[in-house]
Amino acid sequence: MTTLTQLPDDYVQNPHEVHDMLRAEGPVQEVRMPRGLKVWLVTRYDEAKIALTDPRVSKNVVEGGRLMQVHSTDPAAGRVLDDSLAEHMLNMDPPHHTRLRKLVTKAFTARRVEKMRPRVEEISAELIARLNDGDVVDLLEVFAFPLPITVICELLGIPIDNRDEFREWSNQLLTFGTTEEVQAAGAAMAGFLYQHVTKVQAAEPDDTFFSALVHATDSGDSLSTEELVSMAFLLLVAGHETTVNLIGNAVFALLNNPEQLQILKDKPELIPASTEEFLRLEGPINVATFRYTKEPLELGDVTVPADEILMVSLVAANRDPERYENPDQLDVTRSAQGHVAFGHGIHFCLGAPLARLEFDVALTQLLARFPNLTLAAEPETLAWRDSTLIRGLHTLPVRLA
Ligand code: HEM
Repeated sequence: MTTLTQLPDDYVQNPHEVHDMLRAEGPVQEVRMPRGLKVWLVTRYDEAKIALTDPRVSKNVVEGGRLMQVHSTDPAAGRVLDDSLAEHMLNMDPPHHTRLRKLVTKAFTARRVEKMRPRVEEISAELIARLNDGDVVDLLEVFAFPLPITVICELLGIPIDNRDEFREWSNQLLTFGTTEEVQAAGAAMAGFLYQHVTKVQAAEPDDTFFSALVHATDSGDSLSTEELVSMAFLLLVAGHETTVNLIGNAVFALLNNPEQLQILKDKPELIPASTEEFLRLEGPINVATFRYTKEPLELGDVTVPADEILMVSLVAANRDPERYENPDQLDVTRSAQGHVAFGHGIHFCLGAPLARLEFDVALTQLLARFPNLTLAAEPETLAWRDSTLIRGLHTLPVRLA
């Protein structure tokens, strides 16, 4: 017998305290999320890996989406996005997932990602060149946001003038907006991407990533227009909402831990390896995307019944004291390998190499140009975004020096 725990209204402001309490009680609990959805929330590391990989757990939103209404007190629950945005691999199980992932992997090769390094360096350098010593800026606004959105728009061949619109739409789709706002943003995004996809389909194939994706084939199979629209949507949202906050959360953690900042300033060659520790400590995804049990599932000594929504807090798993010593401590020299900030199993983040590359470039250039940057606000006054999916600050005011 388990009891239903109501997550506090201010859960997103301080999830770690809540996770510590839940984790100490057991690997998974039935909880009511801040907006009324009842889910089983996994907070321990070992069970998180099981929940992310066990075939009794499904990500099929078409079949499992009905559970959103069954398990919610919120009449707006279960509102699904415009169908044309939902037909992507993060919402699917094998064999459909396998097919889509294979086709996109063909276009998104490690070689193509590594070839982007000089361009990522250039974009980052251009953004930094606009900043001056002594300026007080929102680092998310002037640097952490424009870098990944510029990279992902270039990857998809989307004109950069649409950047601000994308930010607005994507923000509305991922945070708790009204149903009307979410639907309007979804429809606007779908309409734009549809036009873009059909334009690239009609053009001669070239060497760019999106053209390769549009024209990718596997034994005569290729992506339909609808699948391409959904895929572009997934790449666009997954490709920037996360990386922005990896940069933001890492800089915030460093400014709160000056001795750790000093280590990276003294030895910038440690930055690439330290990426894993920043992902572990405060990864940009708190609760991973929708999953449900198709059959009963044992997690430790708890059995989650069939037809339950199963959510995994990646942030909680990555601070499990059974897995990482002093888990709340930033330690840029620790080996944080094995964290689940990019997920685990068949849905493991497809963009991980690009995210790591962008982070490495961003932090290296930022610390080289502004080694004495400081927070320009009391840390306790900074608010986290109103989302259980995205873990990121609203603003990150810093003084550049
Ligand atoms: C720091 C940056 C990033 C983090 C922390 C991150 C995290 C994740 C996580 C946790 C998942 C799995 C979600 C789940 O199983 O519920 C995922 C999937 C995915 N990510 Fe990322 N991501 C990042 C950057 C990117 C980038 C830059 C791209 C694309 C360019 C991208 C594309 C994807 C795609 C396509 C999937 C779905 C894979 C599948 O279903 O097989 N991500 N990401």
